[in-house]
Amino acid sequence: MRLRDLFAPCAIAVALAGVAGHVAAEPAIYKDADHKLGVELIEQNQCQACHIRRVGGDGSAIYKPQGRINTAAFLRGMVEQCNTELNLGFFPEEVTSVAAVLNRRHYKFTQ
Ligand code: HEC
Repeated sequence: MRLRDLFAPCAIAVALAGVAGHVAAEPAIYKDADHKLGVELIEQNQCQACHIRRVGGDGSAIYKPQGRINTAAFLRGMVEQCNTELNLGFFPEEVTSVAAVLNRRHYKFTQ
């Protein structure tokens, strides 16, 4: 038996665990989110630059998972509010995608 055969079932188990964990962790309202688009929108709209001016570091201290934003829907609402206030002109699905990226990176809400 070759070493590779020995490890193959293991790799499958890890992959399955990854998929299952992923589905369980993603809030329903983000299930259609386009993460690639969300990342692009965050990069293109000075989110980080402005947050750095406010809190320093890499700007991520602005995202407070233990703060008043405590659900995926609330987080999406916050991004919607920024969208309106900053006149970003995001479409609803773009707001969802940006919120979903922030959730995966920082908030980790499951609902
Ligand atoms: C012109 C400056 C500026 C820009 C640009 C900006 N933000 Fe913010 N953002 C802020 C400030 C200031 C706060 C803190 C508000 C507070 O805590 O009262 C904030 C807070 C937030 C919060 C809430 C954090 C929390 O957990 O309380 C989110 C989410 C957020 N911004 C998302 C974004 C996204 C996404 C973008 C880009 C699409 C963006 N912001 C662009 C200034 C900015």
